[in-house]
Amino acid sequence: MKLANTAALVTGAGQGIGQAIALQLAAEGADIALNVRADDERARAVRDEIVALGRRCTIYPADVSRVAGTRAMVQQAGADFPQLCILVNNAGVERHAPLLEVSEDDYDLVLDVNLKGPFFLIQHFARWLRAAGRPGRIVNISSVHEELPFPNFAPYCASKGGLKMLMRDAAVELAPFGITVNNVAPGAIRTPINDALLANEAQLKALTAQIPLGRLGTPPDVAKLVAFLASEDARYITGTTSVVDGGLLWNYTEQ
Ligand code: BGC
Repeated sequence: MKLANTAALVTGAGQGIGQAIALQLAAEGADIALNVRADDERARAVRDEIVALGRRCTIYPADVSRVAGTRAMVQQAGADFPQLCILVNNAGVERHAPLLEVSEDDYDLVLDVNLKGPFFLIQHFARWLRAAGRPGRIVNISSVHEELPFPNFAPYCASKGGLKMLMRDAAVELAPFGITVNNVAPGAIRTPINDALLANEAQLKALTAQIPLGRLGTPPDVAKLVAFLASEDARYITGTTSVVDGGLLWNYTEQ
């Protein structure tokens, strides 16, 4: 098993891509510190699945945008799982609004969860690893929209573009500590963030037509790449973004 004797803190792990990542890392041998907004039935169901795989799993409810809460979460997860060496910044939100209509509240929510959260989690986690004298792996779940404009989602694009540069800077600053930092950039994946799109047949058809591989992605499509980046096999990879999008990002066709 690629991740035996490790533990991973995964944010936003109650559903969608985060849930698939937690399960994949557990299947590869990692114990899981499962971050969710609320310790509810859904979170406990994920924990039970992880335990059924033979791993340890503890739920840490915390809003990733609140710095004091995430600092306490990293300390607690480190105390509970001394072999903690993997952080997956997965939690993310998006809000639909034309640039001219974006409210301050929506802007703050999206930037706080998608960029401020990973920023301070990286800081807390790297400080913890440095104090423990151990190397580690950080993987941020970004988006094709760290590169590609997404009309009506300007704060989301700003957050993911910011996450790209945060990752590059952190990769350089944390390399001396043996910590690698990489982004995974999913395209259109079947998750709750896309509920409205998935319910709209015409929109779904138009989007699928733009994906060279001819389908939306699934959470495990993303999770398998994260497991690789979190493993020893990826030891010489840092400061990069890997795109998982069925070819969506660089597709251009003329009729
Ligand atoms: C967004 C989805 C969108 C996809 C492809 C993702 O980052 O969260 O809403 O469908 O990118 O555009």
